[in-house]
Amino acid sequence: MKLNIAVLPGDGIGPEVTREAIKVLNAISVEFDHTFVYHEALVGATAIDATGNPLPDETLETCNSSDAVLFGAIGHPKYDNDPSAKVRPEQGLLKLRKELGLFANIRPVKAYQTLLDKSPLKEDIIQGTDISIYRELTGGIYFGEKHLSEDGTVASDLCIYSQEEIERIAHLAFKAAQSRNKKVTLVDKANVLESSRLWRKVVTELASQYPDVTLDFLFVDNAAMQLILNPKQFDVILTENMFGDIISDEASVIGGSIGLLASASVGGTIGLFEPIHGSFPEGAGKGIANPIASILSAAMLLEHFGLHEEAARIHQAVEKALELDITTPDLNRSNAAVSTAKVGDFIEDFIANPDDTNMNFNNIHLGQSTII
Ligand code: IPM
Ligand code: MN
Repeated sequence: MKLNIAVLPGDGIGPEVTREAIKVLNAISVEFDHTFVYHEALVGATAIDATGNPLPDETLETCNSSDAVLFGAIGHPKYDNDPSAKVRPEQGLLKLRKELGLFANIRPVKAYQTLLDKSPLKEDIIQGTDISIYRELTGGIYFGEKHLSEDGTVASDLCIYSQEEIERIAHLAFKAAQSRNKKVTLVDKANVLESSRLWRKVVTELASQYPDVTLDFLFVDNAAMQLILNPKQFDVILTENMFGDIISDEASVIGGSIGLLASASVGGTIGLFEPIHGSFPEGAGKGIANPIASILSAAMLLEHFGLHEEAARIHQAVEKALELDITTPDLNRSNAAVSTAKVGDFIEDFIANPDDTNMNFNNIHLGQSTII
């Protein structure tokens, strides 16, 4: 298969984790005889510095003329600490999601057997957790009308949803549940918000089209607690934009590091694949960023094109790296953390040699080749 992939590394650790994802995609292309062509473009603070615009037209054109987008991360402290900034890196990502019609953001959360001890949560609570979060991505409070009074003392953000916006992501969530554990939990705040009551009504009606799937409801405050108390109760979580943003960061604690959580944003003709973590500016350039979320996002990209075996190979390699503790400091269990690039090197090598029992894992830590 030939794929044109727009690569938007962005800010902070974005470029270094994306580099590892590309390394891994290249290993896949060799092993499975595919052609991946990359088209790099600017986004975020880096794009503001170069062009004044967090999503230059050229970047949008590059995305629109590609088959998929591999996204790094965006954000920079100089904007975070300046509430008066009119142009912000995040606007680039939000505009891109909207322009590409990416209304569904899928965030898988699972507890890896080898990392059970890395989570601050008790092992018996998280063991076996496997959740797929379906976060609405182009509506709600993120995109509703914003207002700041002239004297700068009153502000508002409108949370607005239409039936159609709710239905289209709900269908995807129910279909996903059909091939999983057949349960959808709608997370909302229907005891307070009118928009949440619309979600309940629309999702309840639509559920009758999926008689094999059980639908239940949780208020978001309770859901935040249940995720920590008993994450195994969840299969597919369906929720609006901001609740999904918040609970997915919370859910990342289950896996042991936010550096493991990948995502796929779909809905339009071009999908976008990105780690859920931010740009971690303090870690940029130090080789300490975990590339696995970006690598698993690349696996989701392959999955999106039906390349299941290829995606499975990446998962197998990632699990091997975790098992052998070939990990960055956020996950390392033995005081022998390796760099971002070394994690990528191992995964790349394993993809090429999955059955090679002669791989010299000890050399990984010495910075030598993994293959004898
Ligand atoms: C995410 C991020 C973004 C969001 C930011 C960077 C705009 O936190 O993808 O979860 O809030 O959607
Ligand atoms: Mn977020």
